[in-house]
Amino acid sequence: MQFRLRDATNADLPRIVAIERRAFAHPWAEEAFHRELTLSFSRIVLGVTDQNDLGGYLCRWLIADECHILNVAVDTKYRRQGLGELLMREAIAEAVAKRVAIVTLEVRRSNTAARCLYRKLAFEERRLRKNYYGQGEDAIVMERRLTLTTKNRTSF
Ligand SMILES: CC(C)(COP(=O)(O)OP(=O)(O)OC[C@H]1O[C@@H](n2cnc3c(N)ncnc32)[C@H](O)[C@@H]1OP(=O)(O)O)[C@@H](O)C(=O)NCCC(=O)NCCS
Repeated sequence: MQFRLRDATNADLPRIVAIERRAFAHPWAEEAFHRELTLSFSRIVLGVTDQNDLGGYLCRWLIADECHILNVAVDTKYRRQGLGELLMREAIAEAVAKRVAIVTLEVRRSNTAARCLYRKLAFEERRLRKNYYGQGEDAIVMERRLTLTTKNRTSF
């Protein structure tokens, strides 16, 4: 399956929220996504099929020299087809282009799929935040440092 990437608008929110509800036990509400669209440092990138179906999305903040991934999800029927990786690579490529030093995120310790995805993209597991998601649900803080060259390129 081929996906193209584009930025989200308010018109996309119902479809984003539908995927969010299928992906997470504690999903963001539509208002939370709406708020992200009003923030200058926030961006929601979508992966869309040729048929204009929404496959998944990624939300990131870009503040000072850090890109923070707040949310990434791929709809169940489009998983294991490279879209999660495509969205993450887009966030990393943008961070490189904007000369950001580091990309960070938090992931549930139990989320094997996401941890494998981030490790594949050279993220390192740095710290544990005990009970970050509630009792017994630890967060792992992951980081990828970007090595910038004078040509503003890195390997990813
Ligand atoms: C995590 C998630 C975004 C991955 O999206 P995806 O489109 O299915 O992932 P991709 O097809 O791009 O896979 C890329 C890599 O991720 C890893 N990966 C993805 N799913 C995996 C799984 N179920 N088990 C193990 N590794 C997995 C693999 O390393 C894979 O590389 P490979 O295909 O060469 O083996 C998706 O499973 C999802 O939406 N999960 C629910 C929401 C969520 O947990 N988001 C992350 C919050 S931190």
